[in-house]
Amino acid sequence: MPEVGNDPCAERSSSPCARTQAYWAAKHADDIVTIARESRAFATAVATAAKAAQFDRATEAAAKMGARCNACHDLHPEKR
Ligand code: HEC
Repeated sequence: MPEVGNDPCAERSSSPCARTQAYWAAKHADDIVTIARESRAFATAVATAAKAAQFDRATEAAAKMGARCNACHDLHPEKR
């Protein structure tokens, strides 16, 4: 298993993605928390695939992560 230490969205509690997830969890925005958690999983998948030189898989995971960006923005959690 390659190391993914450089990934800003890796499963570290201090990462920006982890803090995003915790922020919305504190506001009990469960749908937003789900999207944030999925985004982290795809970000980790991109890094893992890229480090294993599996570029097709990295591209696929990046596209899925990008779809989560729009999914979250379309719900406008900042206006709640
Ligand atoms: C979990 C929800 C969520 C996810 C996932 C998410 N965003 Fe956001 N994003 C927000 C919210 C909420 C704001 C507005 C923050 C504010 O204005 O207070 C925002 C704002 C932004 C802005 C600033 C827009 C502006 O008009 O200033 C950019 C750029 C952005 N996001 C890019 C991304 C990208 C790229 C991704 C995917 C890699 C992403 N976001 C994923 C919730 C999310």
